[in-house]
Amino acid sequence: MAQNGEIIAMPVPDGAAIEICEVGPRDGFQIEKAIIPTDRKIAIVNELIDAGLKKIQVTSFVSPRAVPQLADAAEVLAGVEKKPGVVLSALVPNAKGAERAAKTQVDIMGLFCSASEAHSLKNVNASIEATLARFPPVVEIAKAAGKRVQGGVATVFGCPFEGEVPPEAVVRIARFYRDLGIVDLNLGDTTGMATPATVKAVLAALRQAVPEMAVTLHFHNTRGVGLANVMVGLSEGITRYDSSIGGLGGCPFAAGATGNICTEDLVYLLQESGYRTGVDLDRLIGVARLTQDVIGRELPGQVMKAGPRLTRHGLDDVSTAAG
Ligand code: COA
Ligand code: ZN
Repeated sequence: MAQNGEIIAMPVPDGAAIEICEVGPRDGFQIEKAIIPTDRKIAIVNELIDAGLKKIQVTSFVSPRAVPQLADAAEVLAGVEKKPGVVLSALVPNAKGAERAAKTQVDIMGLFCSASEAHSLKNVNASIEATLARFPPVVEIAKAAGKRVQGGVATVFGCPFEGEVPPEAVVRIARFYRDLGIVDLNLGDTTGMATPATVKAVLAALRQAVPEMAVTLHFHNTRGVGLANVMVGLSEGITRYDSSIGGLGGCPFAAGATGNICTEDLVYLLQESGYRTGVDLDRLIGVARLTQDVIGRELPGQVMKAGPRLTRHGLDDVSTAAG
């Protein structure tokens, strides 16, 4: 304990295993203008599994009128070849979504509620209070179907409509989840407003209020500090991170939303820092290139362009600066 009573986190030691949840097929595909064919989505998810990713957020069981890009949720899940040890998740906003998800091979239903009223109204057409009221039946449906539930919070580190979001607003939702028996808490940085200082402040507030909950950090790289925030998370003892292949991603109902932190860039950083990810980086870069081809535009991922650190180039590849 520190002098002020705050619990100090132990930094994650070198060599520790870090759990990466790939969210590109959900957070990424949901914001793409062109609808990606179902078989292409399935192919990308299966390639991600082959590259060693053990946790994948495959889709959302939301209203197909709100997010037409993910209307094929059940079909995509039906095509995924789940290997031993692989866990699949999907977002679920209400009982109707839970009933749809319960019929599939999904393992985790991800609830989500915004910590800001303005974003909540935009994202799920309901206040925070009304959104939370939808969740107890979802938990019942999930339990009956033998599925786990994760509690997600959006706009944790700031809201594009309201600005600063107080940590107490996040704590209130986390407590609600905890009281429903949910132990997994996902902290969504919906429009990349997290900074090292705000990450520390939110984690400190949650450690006081709900120390029993296991936190996953979900950063977007909108302002270029996504991986710096991961380093802060590691120093605060957090071992679970969401990221997106090629750096896809963004919320269609949040102004200025852009890509998640990029999975292959995250794997590169973690592996070069001595952490274990279980992912084959070369294969993952191949999946990022495949995803880029399917999406049809350049993706923001950087390691897919530069290659791993010791990528060697031929001397003839560049001219010599002879005067
Ligand atoms: N799956 C499929 N259809 C659904 C559904 C679900 N989970 N939830 C609601 N619907 C259908 C209803 O059956 C109803 O259809 P009908 O008009 O044919 O009877 C219609 O959608 C409206 O239902 P209602 O309960 O009034 O929902 P709403 O229009 O207020 O929308 C949400 C609420 C939550 C369903 C919608 O805002 C949504 O899907 N938001 C998700 C946004 C998102 O994914 N954001 C990115 C992640 S952060
Ligand atoms: Zn996101």
